[in-house]
Amino acid sequence: MISSVNLGGGSAGTLLTYGLLILILYTAYQLAVAAKRNATIRKLGGQRAYSICNNPVTASRHVLQTIKMSNKNKIAEAYDEIFNSLPPESRHVYEHQFLPGSRTIETREPSHIKAILAGDFHSFGKGPNFHKIWSPFLGDSIFTTDGKLWHNSRSLIRPMFMTDRISDLIIFERQIEKMITHIPPSGQTIDIMDLFFRMTMDVTTDFLLGESANSLDNPNSEFTFAFNDVLSRQMRLTVFRIFRPFDKLASHTEYYRDIKTIEEFIMPYIKRTLAIPSEELEKLTKSDSETTFLHNLARFTQDPKVIRDQLIAVLLAGRDTTAATLSWAFYELAAYPDKVDRLRAEVLEFVGERGTPTYEILKNMKYLRYTLQETLRLHPAVPLNVLTTSLMKEALADTVLPSAPGAPSISVLKGDTVCYNPMSIHGRRDLYPPVSEKFADPSVFSPERWYSWQPKPWEYIPFNGGPRICPGQNFAMTEMAYCIVRMLQKYDRIEYRGDWYAQQDKMAVISRPALGVPVAFYEAKKN
Ligand code: HEM
Repeated sequence: MISSVNLGGGSAGTLLTYGLLILILYTAYQLAVAAKRNATIRKLGGQRAYSICNNPVTASRHVLQTIKMSNKNKIAEAYDEIFNSLPPESRHVYEHQFLPGSRTIETREPSHIKAILAGDFHSFGKGPNFHKIWSPFLGDSIFTTDGKLWHNSRSLIRPMFMTDRISDLIIFERQIEKMITHIPPSGQTIDIMDLFFRMTMDVTTDFLLGESANSLDNPNSEFTFAFNDVLSRQMRLTVFRIFRPFDKLASHTEYYRDIKTIEEFIMPYIKRTLAIPSEELEKLTKSDSETTFLHNLARFTQDPKVIRDQLIAVLLAGRDTTAATLSWAFYELAAYPDKVDRLRAEVLEFVGERGTPTYEILKNMKYLRYTLQETLRLHPAVPLNVLTTSLMKEALADTVLPSAPGAPSISVLKGDTVCYNPMSIHGRRDLYPPVSEKFADPSVFSPERWYSWQPKPWEYIPFNGGPRICPGQNFAMTEMAYCIVRMLQKYDRIEYRGDWYAQQDKMAVISRPALGVPVAFYEAKKN
């Protein structure tokens, strides 16, 4: 009995000794990694960004605080709080890390964005980590890849957005007219955001896939729920990345369940792609108006997985961004009857009460364009962006982000994550002119400011920039403009039916009004 206790005590002691040894070795290894990285940072000629947390304890506290703010839909406030607490010499960039090898740099400095997206494009990419986290959902699509794979996806999608395809507005007309029939009679409340999400789904599928998903008539609630839900889960998994390598411990069960639902929804489109006869592909040229994205895909591959990845990516790109922006536009307009009047006056001047807008007419409607630009300034649909330094070109992977005059440049090491943050850049008051009669406070919705003001390059980036600029920009702007024109031809008053000031920003990859947009529309009297 005594000897067995002794034996147990001896094992526990040995275990403790080994445990301590492993801890000491691990700490020594981490310190060596940190020292090597610091030496490289100095050698590159730049500095570290200001560190807000640099060990597992402080980093965990930071992440928990971020998750808490995210659950309250207050991510923008969380970023503002951090940026505003930085010392003056490092006001617009900071870093956080869990372990020395997993540094994340957050920036709202336009010169950094310029380097990441254009000047030093090849040193940055989505990277293998981002790919690993996102690929169960978005596969090897345009959003998760770099280099040749990314280039292939871009070549597949780009022909779809040539001006002569977009300028044929028949699809917008078909789906937007149908959406308007779903708006209840004057004075009755509707969450217009729900209709916008269904309409943009139908426009995207009609335009890119050749057949509408018909979600205006049949809301496909299971798919819609899964699509929304997967984005929230994806966002959480991305935040959890800071804990790597322990991030894998997070539960993925519901995430995979959502993905399965989405895959079931797109299965018919995959089957249609695979069934396109080769004679049809030979007959249609890439620029033919009857050519759909499915034709381009069928020419490119017969692999159902590749087709799946590409389809989910364009659905995400085409549905959520545009619907969220329209929702924010109507949320803002509902608070400003004078701006609705001004916008409607422009609509009547250019197309009248019954006329049909053309592509050229939409392009010439300045107040309409400024309304959309202003909406995207205050509510960029893709509010946060994550790019990791690319492993594609190793020699260029360690690099320096040049700062504005007077601020130190920031060294970036291969494998670092760099987050640039359109929401925080657009929120930087020092980048705007002083408030005046022509220039309202930057926090206020004011399409009028655009008559006398133009943001400097890289200070306004709702559609990204450089080689990865959004290929759907012109399509989205035309779709949204068409929608607003059609709605304001019919309605002359929008009334908000909720607590306008209680609205929050739900950022699940895409930023959308957390409380929906409950409004009542009032039909204009026809002359
Ligand atoms: C208001 C509407 C839209 C906004 C604000 C917007 C914004 C953006 C942004 C910020 C990116 C860069 C994202 C990243 O780096 O991961 C992007 C990429 C992309 N967008 Fe859009 N987008 C909009 C509408 C659309 C539409 C309607 C489509 C297509 C139907 C589309 C297709 C794409 C694609 C394919 C990419 C990936 C480009 C690449 O990585 O090369 N977007 N968009």
